[in-house]
Amino acid sequence: MDFRSDTVTKPTPAMREAMAQALVGDDVYGDDPTVNDLEQWAANRHGFEAALFTTSGTQANLLGLMAHCERGDEYLCGQQAHNYRYEAGGAAVLGSIQPQPIENNPDGTLPFDKLQAAIKPNDSHFARTRLLSLENTINGKVLPMDYLAKAREFVDNNGLAMHLDGARVYNAAIALDVDVKEIAQYFDSMTVCLSKGLAAPIGSLLLGSKEYIAKARRLRKMVGGGMRQAGILAAAGKLALTEQVEQLKQDHINAKRLAEGLNQIPGFAVNAEFIHTNIVFAKLDECIDSQLLATKLADDGITVTPGNPMRFVTHKDISGQDIETCLEKIASYV
Ligand SMILES: Cc1ncc(COP(=O)(O)O)c(C=O)c1O
Repeated sequence: MDFRSDTVTKPTPAMREAMAQALVGDDVYGDDPTVNDLEQWAANRHGFEAALFTTSGTQANLLGLMAHCERGDEYLCGQQAHNYRYEAGGAAVLGSIQPQPIENNPDGTLPFDKLQAAIKPNDSHFARTRLLSLENTINGKVLPMDYLAKAREFVDNNGLAMHLDGARVYNAAIALDVDVKEIAQYFDSMTVCLSKGLAAPIGSLLLGSKEYIAKARRLRKMVGGGMRQAGILAAAGKLALTEQVEQLKQDHINAKRLAEGLNQIPGFAVNAEFIHTNIVFAKLDECIDSQLLATKLADDGITVTPGNPMRFVTHKDISGQDIETCLEKIASYV
C-alpha cells in the first residue's frame, strides 16, 4: 500500500494491452496516429480547439506558462501552486517569466482584492502582468464553480488570460458532480495529468486554442520534449480518460473513510471539511514521531511520507480493505 501519491498507480492490464497493440509513427513529424487521435479526442472532450501530449504535468505547465507569457512578463498564482513551488522554478529559469505568488485562502482560492493589488501598472519599472494561473484540485481541495466564474470575470476585467493546472481536474469534476467541460469552459488553457489517479504510466495534456498549442508545440521541441513513437504512451493515456475516471469516485470514498478513521485515533486530527477528493492531511500531536511511524508502517508494507501534517493519497491500487488495515496498523502503533 503506497499512500505517498496517486502518481504511484500502475497501468491497468487494458493499458498494457493497448500499448502493445498501438499504431505508431514519428510524432515530431506529426505521423503518430495514436498521439494524433488522443490530441484531437482530448481537445474535443474538454472543449478546446487543440491539445498537446507532453511528457509530464510539469512540462505541460511550463509550456502552458511560456506560451502565454514572454520574457519579462508575469503570472499570478498561489503560494501553494504546484507550478510555483514544486516545479524547480521552471517558468522563471527557462521562460524568464516572473511569478507573483499570492497567499492562498484556506480553501485554496486566491482573494481577488490581493490579486487586483498585485497587478502591475503599465510602467517601465514593472514586469507585465499577463496571466492568472489557478490549480484545481489544490492539495485535494476543489475550487467552487462560482469562484471560477468570478475568476473569469476578474481576468476579463483586467485583460489577463487564465490557465488551469488541472493535474487532478477529473477529481474536481467527480467531487462537484459536473462534466469536466463545465470547469474547463472558464480557462484559456488547461493541463490534465494522465499519470496520477487516472493510472497511465506517463503523460499529460495541454489544451488551448490552435494558435496557442502551435506555440507550445514549438516550445516542447525546445525543451527536448518532442517524442517519437509516443503512441505507445498515448494509447494508455486515452484509456486513462475513457476507462479510469469512475475509479476516482471510489478513491474519494476511501479518502473520506481514512479521514474519519484517523480522526478516531488519539494524536491525529483531520479537518474533514477539506476532504473533497483523494488527499488527506492529518495533523499529528507532538508526541507522535512521524519518521518512526513511517518506519513502522513500512515494516508492514505500508508506505507513507513522514511529515506533519502527514499526507495520505488514495488511488486505484489501494482498496477499501487496505484503508481498514492501514487504520488498524496506525492505531496499534500509536
Ligand atoms: C497539481 C500538480 N500539478 C502538476 C504536477 C506535475 O506533474 P508531473 O509529476 O507529471 O510533472 C503535479 C505532480 O504531482 C501536481 O500535483
